[in-house]
Amino acid sequence: MGVGHSRWATHGIPSEENSHPHFDCKGNFLVVHNGIIENYQELKNELKQKGHGFKSDTDTEIIPHLIENFAELGFEEAVKKAVGKLKGRYAIVALNRNSDKMIGVRRGSPLIVGVKNGVKDSDKREFFLASDIPAFLDHTNNVMYLDDEEMVVIDKNERSIKFHNLERREDVEKRLINIGWDAGQAEKNGFEHFMLKEIMEQKDTIMRALNQDVKSIGSMAEKINNAFGTFFTGCGTAGNVCLAGEYIFSKVAGKHINFIVSSEFPNYHHFLTDKTLLIAISQSGETADVLEAIEAAKKKRVKIMSLVNVMGSSLDRKSDYSFLIKAGPEKAVASTKAATSQLALITLLAYACAGKLNEGRRLLIETASKVNDMLNPRYEKHIRRLAEKIYKKDSMYIIGRSLNYPMALESAIKIQEVSYIHAQGFAGGELKHGPLALIDKGTPCIALVAEDEVKDDVISNAMEIKSRGGCIIGVAPENNEVFDYWIKVPDVGDASPIVNIIPVQILAYHLAVLRGCNPDYPKNLAKSVTVK
Ligand code: AGP
Repeated sequence: MGVGHSRWATHGIPSEENSHPHFDCKGNFLVVHNGIIENYQELKNELKQKGHGFKSDTDTEIIPHLIENFAELGFEEAVKKAVGKLKGRYAIVALNRNSDKMIGVRRGSPLIVGVKNGVKDSDKREFFLASDIPAFLDHTNNVMYLDDEEMVVIDKNERSIKFHNLERREDVEKRLINIGWDAGQAEKNGFEHFMLKEIMEQKDTIMRALNQDVKSIGSMAEKINNAFGTFFTGCGTAGNVCLAGEYIFSKVAGKHINFIVSSEFPNYHHFLTDKTLLIAISQSGETADVLEAIEAAKKKRVKIMSLVNVMGSSLDRKSDYSFLIKAGPEKAVASTKAATSQLALITLLAYACAGKLNEGRRLLIETASKVNDMLNPRYEKHIRRLAEKIYKKDSMYIIGRSLNYPMALESAIKIQEVSYIHAQGFAGGELKHGPLALIDKGTPCIALVAEDEVKDDVISNAMEIKSRGGCIIGVAPENNEVFDYWIKVPDVGDASPIVNIIPVQILAYHLAVLRGCNPDYPKNLAKSVTVK
């Protein structure tokens, strides 16, 4: 038995003292923890008064001390009593030096059990507890999901596993689920970084996202059409996909859907009724802000529809209707293939809502095939050459209009998070209201252009930037005299967000590598953001 933990700092700086696991006074109980204990200060003061000494600044350290406090009840009961005192969202794993048991508890943060060698072959059974499946995918793809308020007790000697519901105070049975991913999908397969591998996988993943049951697309479209008030919610990249969805639904299906970023969604509760539909988009299905948004919606009896990559994730299980985007494991912190799969599925749903499912499917299949053509070594080299010209710049700006405005925002996230270059995306029309003041001689500005009704306006905005010294990088189906550097993308009509974001993903990747940053593990960020 052993534990390891990558800590994403919430309380106290990243340091050895603040690293997990944390121990009780005698070093008998140890705990690793993901999430935030909201009442830790109050509990810490109580424990200090009882004579417990603390070595770290973390909220986590109170947990082993609380377990120690109840130690005479036995390990399992002591953990139950200890977690009964905690407020907040968390997943913990606890060990006891004097016991052969490993105990996990989940409330709000993900905790998944991996089971190796099947349930019947009990002699050889091995168990893994992790917050995300790729952590143990090298060993098994058979999983059991803990729900909130559940505890799992793994006994090393008996090779047994037991689940207990802490609220109902009863043991519960769990199904063993094969998630269908294999370890090879979570390997680099010859690529230097996961990010580049996942960008290249878009040759297949967009097509896989489209492979949905026609009947369920039809019935989801009907639910969207019949809802009275529909919202999109998501965070970061998934949030940008939601905003693109807002435009796509408006343009393709004539339907008004509001996008509210998940961390702000609970503030919109006044507008929710039992006829509202909330469409949540998330790669991991574990983002705390998204889960809080759907909890707020559920309180108003809102129906939840989700587009999610990880099967069996909290969002998948808590949704009334859920679509898997089938992108396979996404390991790089920067979301790439999940984003384009989400865009493909949202576009397909919009066409279905407009009663034009076949037309939508044809457009997206053609888009997937054009993405396959784009992602060749020559294309990548062309973008790498651009990165070599601009990688020492401090700032970059990206403009787009209509469907490509959200992609300007998404381009900025991609560049910021992996290369640490200051990047900002704007709606082209907003430039004159402030951002133009930021343009200096040679400032790189990307214009995302499609063959649509706003093309001329975006080109005019690019001209305005160029007149003030900016260097224009055009991502567009056709070259234009305003472009200093042109990256060609196919003309795919309403699917333009998919093809326009891909070259920027490649550019962000090369900017990171040229600046000596590891694009797979950006500083200060985590793949699944399981804290508020
Ligand atoms: C994407 O590149 C980012 N790392 C981040 O914005 C991410 O999209 C966001 O945290 C949402 O994650 P999710 O899709 O797993 O909910």
